[in-house]
Amino acid sequence: MTKRIAVLISGSGSNLQAIIDAVSKKQINGEIVLVISNKGDAYGLQRAQQANIETQVLQHTDYDSREAFDKDLSNALIAAKADVIVLAGFMRILTEQFVNQFQDKMLNIHPSLLPKYKGLNTHQRAIDAKDSHAGCSVHYVTAELDGGPIAMQGITAIDVTDDAEQLAQKVHRLEHIIYPKVISWICDDQLTSIDNRLYFNSELLDETGFKLSLDDVQ
Ligand code: GRF
Repeated sequence: MTKRIAVLISGSGSNLQAIIDAVSKKQINGEIVLVISNKGDAYGLQRAQQANIETQVLQHTDYDSREAFDKDLSNALIAAKADVIVLAGFMRILTEQFVNQFQDKMLNIHPSLLPKYKGLNTHQRAIDAKDSHAGCSVHYVTAELDGGPIAMQGITAIDVTDDAEQLAQKVHRLEHIIYPKVISWICDDQLTSIDNRLYFNSELLDETGFKLSLDDVQ
């Protein structure tokens, strides 16, 4: 059965756009049924509307507590009958209760080679540490921030001349390839998460998941 995808955003939504494009090219065998933003001015909302996708704004500042916000978010996702929940630049910490409610169904993309550099300013931190490589990770969401099982990582070399902005651009290119790819596997029932363990064609996936290097796509 065609999977129903909900995408949660807070900003530009370039990852959302990559997913919209992959659906329209039938590279993803699924349907984006809802885009939710916690900010009314997120540009990603316009991208969704242009693609005739239903949008909803749940302005987090309208809520007294994280629990109340998460309750409405959960109700919206249940009403949309979402099978796959995609966090794409969604800048909100979710309550443990919410995360557990959607265990094995919710994905995130994080701009680092996890488990390195959880949290913010990932590219600057990789440069400061003189790392040879940087990248991004698509992972399932668990109660541990940026700590869930990894499905795929995109990897690029850090050039000595790279500043954080240049590195972010290279990593973004990878994000726009690996996120649709992972979602397509889920929609085709190739990739599954069971109790936070990932299986690809029923085989247990190793800890850091599939890899894609920017060199392979240039
Ligand atoms: C991406 O860099 C992603 O890794 C992080 O937030 C950013 C979202 O960018 N979680 P966009 O809104 O998809 O352009």
